[in-house]
Amino acid sequence: MAKEKTQYTCTDCGGITPKWLGKCPSCNAWNTLLETAVDSSGPTKNRYAGMAALAPASEVAILSDIEAQDVARTPTGQEELDRVLGGGMVQGGVVLIGGDPGIGKSTLILQAMDGLQRSGMSTLYVTGEESAAQVALRSRRLGLDHSQVQVLAETQLEKILATVDKLQPAVVVMDSIQTVYSDQLTSAPGSVAQVRECASHLTRMAKSTGTAVVLVGHVTKEGALAGPRVLEHMVDTVLYFEGDTHSTYRLVRAIKNRFGAVNEIGVFAMTEKGLKGVSNPSAIFLSQHAEPVPGSCVLVTLEGTRPLLVEIQALVDSGGPSPRRLSVGLDRDRLAMLLAVLHRHAGVACMDQDVFVNAVGGVRISEPAADLAVMLSIQSSLRGKPLPQGFIAFGEVGLAGEVRPAPRGQERLKEAAKLGFTVAIIPKANAPKKPIPGMTVHAVERVDEAIGLVRELG
Ligand code: TYD
Ligand code: MG
Repeated sequence: MAKEKTQYTCTDCGGITPKWLGKCPSCNAWNTLLETAVDSSGPTKNRYAGMAALAPASEVAILSDIEAQDVARTPTGQEELDRVLGGGMVQGGVVLIGGDPGIGKSTLILQAMDGLQRSGMSTLYVTGEESAAQVALRSRRLGLDHSQVQVLAETQLEKILATVDKLQPAVVVMDSIQTVYSDQLTSAPGSVAQVRECASHLTRMAKSTGTAVVLVGHVTKEGALAGPRVLEHMVDTVLYFEGDTHSTYRLVRAIKNRFGAVNEIGVFAMTEKGLKGVSNPSAIFLSQHAEPVPGSCVLVTLEGTRPLLVEIQALVDSGGPSPRRLSVGLDRDRLAMLLAVLHRHAGVACMDQDVFVNAVGGVRISEPAADLAVMLSIQSSLRGKPLPQGFIAFGEVGLAGEVRPAPRGQERLKEAAKLGFTVAIIPKANAPKKPIPGMTVHAVERVDEAIGLVRELG
């Protein structure tokens, strides 16, 4: 293939310059010029035609006349992974799976590929980080002794695409996207320009051939995938690993999914024989205290479609002149807001105190329904008094001190009752019409009501 020339394209305005410049001459933005390949077939041909080729028909049609086909999915055999994918791998779908190094990306993908291969799909695992022998070693460790997955150790995009063309596999994995490079760019593998260019070529290949593509990506220290976010827009599904490498549990969350629900999470346990799905994860994020302790409140959260019980821990301790507010697994700005609401609407003051809040088990809670549990754990730590035995809470809190309903309150209460919890403080609008066996439910409208109730209860 003739070596193509490169040019620089502004990521903000799309302006093009032949040379790299610090500032885009068209829109004057700094550091936005990225190296891109110039297509030798002429400037009129759109290099990205076909990227959105899911529906190649170009004629105008009436929506109701278009035959809506459900996408064909093949389950990977890893139930928890299938759950986040929305049922399985989709033909021509592109999945990006990101996470910290060592969290289990390669392990999970290899297990999934073996499952797909067993169900009769031809799979190609392209490894750019490890040698084929290392991949084989891992597969033995995973107990996949007779695996028929095809392995290619290669990092040059053009060669990879040629192999894909020859083998015509149903699924291709690129582990990792940061190791691939295209001949047509001069920048180093792993640079934003290379990652972007290679991912767009692979995406185009997926759309034009119907091959499903899985891109494995490392997350940088700042928490962004190298090739900042550009890949997220290109692909159909974005999955991220959560949880820390030190704990046994790993969470895989769908951040974006064109073929399924977002925020769905899959829960896995890392064992000697790879990742095993945890089909009933509701109780794994509770630390088992023999007796209730101050500063701990169990929250029933709904991440995706399953209710999970997560322990929220708070530690309030006298701080210096500028007290600290730290949160792990919860939004820090939200914490600052909740502290202000606590002070203003419930008279609980933490101005001169350090406040630390943690969601147990490395789980990240994004829904506002965690507010009430966060507040109650803070107040409990401040008073040095535990919440009652078997206590749970959920509900969003507004700036005016009102407690707003959480979606699907009944389901949350039922799950908690099933796990032996007996007392709940919840938003008034979530109050169950019929009593829930074994559960005393206190429905509140305002934060001060909730705080007052807790003082009465224990
Ligand atoms: P890996 O899948 O290589 O991580 P990534 O591709 O995300 O960088 O997983 C590496 C970690 O998983 C490593 O620390 C060892 C551990 N592990 C197990 O505990 N059990 C296993 O069966 C395997 C294969 C790995
Ligand atoms: Mg890996």
